[in-house]
Amino acid sequence: MQKFFFLAVGFGLSTGSALAQAPATPSNAPKVKTAAFRPGELWYDTDGNLINAHGGGVLQVGKTYYWYGEKRAQHQEEGVNVYSSKDLYNWKYEGVALAPATDPQNDIAAGCLMERPKVIYNKKTGKYVMWFHLELKGQGYKAARAGVAVADKPTGPFKYVSSFRPNGNMSRDMGLFVDDDGAAYHIYSARENYDLRLARLSPDYLTATPQDSLLFSKHQEAPALFKTGGKYYLITSGCTGWDPNQASLHVADRPFGPWKPLGDPMTGPNAKLTFGGQSTYVLPVAGKKDAFIFMADRWNPKDLKDSRYLWLPVQFKDGQPTVEWLHHWNLNFFNNPSTKIL
Ligand code: GAL
Repeated sequence: MQKFFFLAVGFGLSTGSALAQAPATPSNAPKVKTAAFRPGELWYDTDGNLINAHGGGVLQVGKTYYWYGEKRAQHQEEGVNVYSSKDLYNWKYEGVALAPATDPQNDIAAGCLMERPKVIYNKKTGKYVMWFHLELKGQGYKAARAGVAVADKPTGPFKYVSSFRPNGNMSRDMGLFVDDDGAAYHIYSARENYDLRLARLSPDYLTATPQDSLLFSKHQEAPALFKTGGKYYLITSGCTGWDPNQASLHVADRPFGPWKPLGDPMTGPNAKLTFGGQSTYVLPVAGKKDAFIFMADRWNPKDLKDSRYLWLPVQFKDGQPTVEWLHHWNLNFFNNPSTKIL
């Protein structure tokens, strides 16, 4: 219901947001190199423009990280942006990785929604494969499809391949996960978001195989799957549209489960509402053991491009992942948690 409400009344609201007031290339935007994460604050790219990559995920290629996310106007979705970084703090804009099509008959015609894009690399084909949640132009959130695009380079341009309902199931919020053995999975909210399902991808990662099963029916979305110490962990949100809600953590020994609930992993002020955000990805930090960054979006439905990013370190307390609110932190935290700057 939330989604249709947004479509009906979302347009035409005034914004007054920081991003709306900021010129395209603000002369006063910080261009100095930064070495800290400031969750929820304005985050500029190396050109001095605000980063526009929502509902995103990160792919590491050699020493470079690529951050893919929804390019948002005030409401409209304008394709998938990609940024690159070597240090995770300073991001260079690499352009639109997947642009909406100009042909109005195309599945990804301008005006469609391409949400929650994630990119993985296929070692066998040498291709970068993007999956995203596709909603067809003018149909609200009815189509509930997964879309796939492919590229030779991490920065694209990605070429649209196809879209479908995996094994006939509705597919909205989603993530991708590549296991140590190269098997890749699509995790997705199905059956009007009541079910969370997992499908193993074909060897070329371009489609879902029939190995597709229900993980649980708890009305969860925004799935972010990661693995450490031989265990699979999954952070999800409830389903309240753009509004924040309580996060959940599950653990399993195998991707298809059984998945055991571990409660809410968030701690600190506003933890019960995921600090005002919604999960999108858990990013493994290269070269550090058990170093993961929980990535979330603090959505601003009045001006979606001004939605903010919450990047917080995953901590392991009694062997269980938790995410604590920090105003300000950097990667030294993973070497010594006492270096955290609250
Ligand atoms: C949320 C979802 C977002 C977006 C939004 C639209 O539930 O996580 O990705 O689809 O709904 O209302």
